[in-house]
Amino acid sequence: MNAAIRAATLIGRSLGVDVLGVEHGYRGLIEDAFVPLGAAQVQDILREGGTILGTARCKEFHRREVRDHARAILRNRGVDGLVVIGGNGSLTGAQAIADPTESDTPPLVVGVPASIDNDLGVTGLAIGVDTAMNTIVEACDKIADTATSHDRTFIIEVMGRDCGYLAMTSAIAAGADLALFPEAGRDETSIVDAIVDTVLSVRERPRRSRRVIVVKAEGVHVPVERLKVLVDERLRARVPDADPAMIETRVTVLGHVVRGGRPSAFDRLLGSRLANVAVRALVDGQSHKMVAWMPPVELPEEIGARSPADPYCWLVDLAAALVETDNLLRGRSPLARWRAGAFDEIGDALLM
Ligand code: F6P
Repeated sequence: MNAAIRAATLIGRSLGVDVLGVEHGYRGLIEDAFVPLGAAQVQDILREGGTILGTARCKEFHRREVRDHARAILRNRGVDGLVVIGGNGSLTGAQAIADPTESDTPPLVVGVPASIDNDLGVTGLAIGVDTAMNTIVEACDKIADTATSHDRTFIIEVMGRDCGYLAMTSAIAAGADLALFPEAGRDETSIVDAIVDTVLSVRERPRRSRRVIVVKAEGVHVPVERLKVLVDERLRARVPDADPAMIETRVTVLGHVVRGGRPSAFDRLLGSRLANVAVRALVDGQSHKMVAWMPPVELPEEIGARSPADPYCWLVDLAAALVETDNLLRGRSPLARWRAGAFDEIGDALLM
């Protein structure tokens, strides 16, 4: 997100606009916590993970009177437009603060998608996904050393909230044997069966190629410790005289490790490019938009158009992007169905 803050600051300034940062998201907004941003403040922030402005969850923002208060603060400060960098919650807040039925003079808003979960509709990628994926792959590579030496099975749980994207993509990039993600809609028994079948199939291979790496999305609501117990029990039942190493499943929960760290070069570029388009759109007087990176679906004209400032970025209707986000999370969008279907096909190939 720092890359986006830096680009918004530098591009805004170059267009003759004063740029302020809001500390701790909507919480800072309602507490009037603003900081001036200029070249000096954003120099060298590209390499830092997280956000120099801080962030916070702010439940109060769901209330109309709190949003009225935020709009009054923005008016007093002379703020005309907001670049909102964040995920589903932040962008829903952006839509609400710019709602013309709540105010005659709402601020202009343009959203920049940022969430390691990649659970936002319409955009191909959000800020943070690439860095998180790289972190997961690096962790899997390290764990694979122990798994290979001991011929063991590891279940590695990764963040992603209700979305399996990080688990699916990092499983491919790490050369994992199985990915478990909520979009597949498997119940506990079929998840255990899938792991056990994978272990038994991989055990047919020669030594030093018998390790099993299973990447599990946190959105699959079976605790990893329980999975370990169930998998080991089932293996013992299916292969009573099994080599003990085969029934020594280990689990690792990567947790918040996945969310931090030095941003990848691609994420720095992505944040910079999305924010560039967002600021230019605001200065152009546009509002209720989100900047999408290479949308993975055909977009009808009324939903969005390619940005004249960057051929990889689209300016899409913010409300439509939020509706599509909801569809994606409920597995109702074509993209969600494609992701799950594609992985079904890939899943078989992983074990050939
Ligand atoms: O939405 C990003 C995310 O990191 C999810 O992947 C995860 O489920 C959640 O946030 C963790 O939130 P918290 O830091 O509040 O525990």
